[in-house]
Amino acid sequence: MAQSRIAVFASGQGSNFAALVQAQREGRLGAGRIELLVSDKPEAPVAQRAEEAGIPSLLLRPKDFAGREQYEAAIVAELQRRDIGLVVLAGYMRLISPVLLEPYVGRIVNIHPSLLPAFAGKDAIGQALDYGVKLTGVTVHFVDGGMDTGPVIAQRSVEVQPEDTAESLAERIHQVEYALYPEVVAAIADGRVTLNGRKAVIAG
Ligand code: GAR
Repeated sequence: MAQSRIAVFASGQGSNFAALVQAQREGRLGAGRIELLVSDKPEAPVAQRAEEAGIPSLLLRPKDFAGREQYEAAIVAELQRRDIGLVVLAGYMRLISPVLLEPYVGRIVNIHPSLLPAFAGKDAIGQALDYGVKLTGVTVHFVDGGMDTGPVIAQRSVEVQPEDTAESLAERIHQVEYALYPEVVAAIADGRVTLNGRKAVIAG
């Protein structure tokens, strides 16, 4: 399975999905080709974005399945049917079970709006503001069975300003995400990322 054939998973706005699509259009996604959007929220704005971009989507409600395993098995079947080699989580707000993790081990990445391991889980931006840190940022990491615990591939920092609100900080973090995620996805699609234990290295 070529790591250039990508499925993006998203649950909400999909602005990172849009940034990845834009990067592909502009030739900044390396060999990467976005072949599919997967969403657990068929009514989410990201579904409309995929339609406008002409990218096929798989929109499945988890509650329509007997359990998480059956839901993910349906996704895996579609990924394999389309020969997807890389899963890119972009605001996909669910933990991944072994049903999806095992066939795609080392080939699922996620973006998280903090400098992990700080502020894992939900509302990372609110957590950072509440804690009073002066520096936060963005992490792209491989996905393992835990919550935001997989090996870090790339991180970029964002300064917190005294007057920041959740909205203003989120806006600056988003801008960093839109630049960083396509760079990392391109590196993986081009086979330039290696993993040795927990240490990921991007060559070139
Ligand atoms: C992004 O900021 C992403 O880092 C975050 O959700 C947002 C999705 O925005 N992901 C997580 O918090 C994962 N734990 P988008 O739908 O506009 O791309």
